[in-house]
Amino acid sequence: MGLSDFQHEIYLGGLGDVRPEFPTDLSTLEAVAEERLDPQAFGYVAGAAGSGATARANREAFDRWRLVPRMLRDVSGIDLSVNVLGTPMPAPVLLAPIGVLSILHPEGEAAVARAAAALGVPMLLSTAASRTMEEVAEAAGPRWYQLYWPKDRDLAESFLRRAEAGGYEVLVVTLDTFKLAWRPRDLDTAYLPFLRGIGVQNYFSDPVFRAAVGGEVTEENQTGAILHWVANFGDPTLTWDDLAWLRGRWDGPIVLKGIQHLDDARRAAYAGMDGIVVSNHGGRQVDGAVAALDQLPKIVDTVGDRLSVLFDSGVRTGADAAKALALGAEAVLVGRPYAYGLGLGGEAGVRHVLRCLLAELELTLALCGAGSVRELGRDLLA
Ligand SMILES: Cc1cc2nc3c(=O)[nH]c(=O)nc-3n(C[C@H](O)[C@H](O)[C@H](O)COP(=O)(O)O)c2cc1C
Repeated sequence: MGLSDFQHEIYLGGLGDVRPEFPTDLSTLEAVAEERLDPQAFGYVAGAAGSGATARANREAFDRWRLVPRMLRDVSGIDLSVNVLGTPMPAPVLLAPIGVLSILHPEGEAAVARAAAALGVPMLLSTAASRTMEEVAEAAGPRWYQLYWPKDRDLAESFLRRAEAGGYEVLVVTLDTFKLAWRPRDLDTAYLPFLRGIGVQNYFSDPVFRAAVGGEVTEENQTGAILHWVANFGDPTLTWDDLAWLRGRWDGPIVLKGIQHLDDARRAAYAGMDGIVVSNHGGRQVDGAVAALDQLPKIVDTVGDRLSVLFDSGVRTGADAAKALALGAEAVLVGRPYAYGLGLGGEAGVRHVLRCLLAELELTLALCGAGSVRELGRDLLA
């Protein structure tokens, strides 16, 4: 036990009348964030595609599974540490790539990187970050790079070289967002951070991008640069055949994020990928898409022996993480909760969210009678 020491720390604090600054039930964070954060920024994070049906389905899918605890199994020496695709981590939990974080806190991704590094939790840095990958690398511990594959191949290659130079160990290619979905919450307030120059910092700092817009981006040419960004952000022509291009340009592991269909999971394996993230982007892309958790077990059963199968979309608590792991995910990515933590308390808010999640995950394993992640199987689910 170690991760759950946070629980003791909180109760001991109570003896001196110190209470946690933020809620410890992470499923309530959204409501607190809604009260305290700027409405447009909150709406951008909380929002989903269309009617929100898939975002709701993600949560309902977790509710349909229940844990069935086992007793008398000596769980005194519980150890959650794992190694995923060569990256050691204290628990099978990573921070999902979330762009434009400076809309929530001026320190943005840098604060997230410091909080994650303090706990040894890997961070997935988004191409759409509001800090450059070089700035984040300086603050970060273990880090993976999430690519939005732009139309311009020279720009894509430049991103890969910068990520490699910045010590990003794994390349995560997000496939489900080559354009933004219909998101009424942002449409109703006509709010898109990128058009205001937030979330384009990796582009504006890139030599290939700069050459294309005639040099460094200044106030004068910012509108042109943003239009160039709009034209280049995603490439709808991509097919499975294009993955060979990436494979030839990245030496480390490659993970495809946004896999929902079983046949796509199979194709990822045929294409020589190392892993996938079963994800529907937190319900932000295809409204009416299936809950990500509902796709997880069959995908694990089909490709789990060939690919690292990671999961995101809907994880809010340690118990949620335990359910996804019991269904066969090698690790889970957590998204919105840490963004709310950032908005509420900067680096300390993110650290709080991570410590709560890891503590609750460790306690859930212990109280379910699972001494390690390996012992967390479908026999513990109903
Ligand atoms: C505000 C916001 C921005 C996001 N930006 C990115 C991004 O830049 N790249 C990416 O691959 N996924 C992005 N995602 C999706 C997350 O990586 C992740 O798939 C999703 O948040 C998981 O669902 P959850 O929020 O329910 O945990 C974003 C999600 C949110 C909420």
